[in-house]
Amino acid sequence: MCGIIGYVGARPCKELVLSGLEHLEYRGYDSSGLVLVGEHGLDRARAVGPVKALRAVAGGVSETATAGMGHTRWATHGGVEERNAHPFLSEDGRFAVLMNGIFENYIDLRAQVTAKGHTLTSDTDTEALVHMIEEEYDGDIAETCRRIFPRLEGHFAFLAMAIDEPDRIVAARLAWPPLVVGRGEGENYIASFTPAFLEQTRMIQIVDESELVIVTADNVEFRAIADGSPREHEIERADDSIEVAAKGGYESFMLKEIHEQPTAIADTIAERFHHGELHLDGFGLSDDDLREINRVLIVGCGTALHSGLVGRYLIEEWGGVATEADVASEWRYRNGVFDPKTLVLAISQSGETADTLAAMQIAKERGARVVAVTNIMGSAIARAADGVLYTRAGLEIGVAASKTFTAQVTLMTLIALHLGAVRGHLSPEDVALIGGELRELPDLVQQLLDDKELDAQLDMLADRFCHDRFFLYLGRHLGLPICQEGALKLKEISYIPTDAYAAGEMKHGPIALLGEDTPVVAVATDSHVFEKMASNLEEVRARGAHVIAVATAGNTSIEAHAEHVLYVPRTRPELQPILAVIPLQLLAYKITGRLGLDVDRPRNLAKTVTVE
Ligand code: M6R
Repeated sequence: MCGIIGYVGARPCKELVLSGLEHLEYRGYDSSGLVLVGEHGLDRARAVGPVKALRAVAGGVSETATAGMGHTRWATHGGVEERNAHPFLSEDGRFAVLMNGIFENYIDLRAQVTAKGHTLTSDTDTEALVHMIEEEYDGDIAETCRRIFPRLEGHFAFLAMAIDEPDRIVAARLAWPPLVVGRGEGENYIASFTPAFLEQTRMIQIVDESELVIVTADNVEFRAIADGSPREHEIERADDSIEVAAKGGYESFMLKEIHEQPTAIADTIAERFHHGELHLDGFGLSDDDLREINRVLIVGCGTALHSGLVGRYLIEEWGGVATEADVASEWRYRNGVFDPKTLVLAISQSGETADTLAAMQIAKERGARVVAVTNIMGSAIARAADGVLYTRAGLEIGVAASKTFTAQVTLMTLIALHLGAVRGHLSPEDVALIGGELRELPDLVQQLLDDKELDAQLDMLADRFCHDRFFLYLGRHLGLPICQEGALKLKEISYIPTDAYAAGEMKHGPIALLGEDTPVVAVATDSHVFEKMASNLEEVRARGAHVIAVATAGNTSIEAHAEHVLYVPRTRPELQPILAVIPLQLLAYKITGRLGLDVDRPRNLAKTVTVE
């Protein structure tokens, strides 16, 4: 989950590398570093903290270098210290290496290079590689790396340079950490993700697994790691615009992305309905296969899992098939029992989450049919699945997911409708009716985002409760995963402890947490469990806690059970989750703002979690 960029061309490249790192910073920001080919050797700068800290120390590094590479780190092996920041240099200073991912056999690798007399300066897995290169270099950095590659275990993407070959960067990857080449005029880039160079070029080539790439100013050569044979890759045009990587007038990426939800939902639905008929292509399974499915298993992590939990209710309701949802990191170590009639839906906005990828691979090995639900085309999860259904939320940079959540819930809704239609649980008329209401959601979300009264209410709540030490979230049925998502949003950006509970479970334990002033956030939108929720809220109020309820516009009966009511527009209960989550996102956002914290870069978190 680190960010990588490399450049070889004719222009002075320090600024290109630094600005590329800034675009990748959301992937990890514990520390960063760069190395450039200077007049007297490899010139390196590293700093703990965000890229602006690197800028502050990079003044002494070559202004004229036309080749170099940079790295922004999310610590795995070794603490957040400058000596653990990438790139790493060999002792003779002739070689440099940086890496995203993990060498799982790093203990052996470190022992091997130490046994050969090298002194390790960091606690990382990566540093061993630069010493191996120094040890084995034979005048050709590409072939040296190719020879060493089979001894590296794990999942990684690395870049390497040698001062004796100052006009080239060599890169290689194994498993899911991505690499993409950017093709320019007389210059080329290699990075973990396109925003790193999108301001310079949109022409890209995706690097495959177990491939070696040699990047020079005028050429990019791909070779198979196994035998060094040449590989060909088409040059494609990247769709992402660099504008999405900028805040576009909002004070943070998260706020911008919250406001992009109407578009994310609309784009995820777009073109999937024709004249009221749903066409959900990408399953990789025929309608006959889908009719045969006797069980659905949904796996994901964090926010992605919460969207899966919404999907579970909808698939059971409309698809008429037994459905469960589980944390990918737990499920992968269970001895899950299933057969080819099990459909596994692996949800991951980044498409890179290690636990989700591992869970889907295990499911495939055991014979299940696996469909990926992701926001990133060509991501590891997309490539590993039998079929892929894309959310179309656009690039999300804020570490706390917002628009990708509502896009995922939208897609889960479409999947449930599709299964219902194909399996005969829903009539074409039902699908057309629900589809019509689904297509109204972007407008209803926009209405919520434009609601000045709601905004003022949220400001008031943020002012009043921002210094509270604990928030309890309560919900039932479809309201429960929305509470879980709301609670995750608040805790991950404001660091205020939260718990999300099934309201019916409250009296089996969490009720003990309630004090006179505890804020309790409840999702109590209209549904068959509304009355039950209302009773649970009475139990909360009897303990003196403050109830903040999200409810359906027009149902004022909730006001008898809550001190504060955040109304969301009316739609059918199955579609309410997409509306109910919006005030919870905004509440978390506003509370965090009051606390003066950086919403886009919460401590200890990374946008993509490519480690277990
Ligand atoms: O990329 P993924 O959807 O697989 O990521 C899963 C989680 O890491 C992610 O949702 C995380 O919980 C976010 N910080 C939530 O805001």
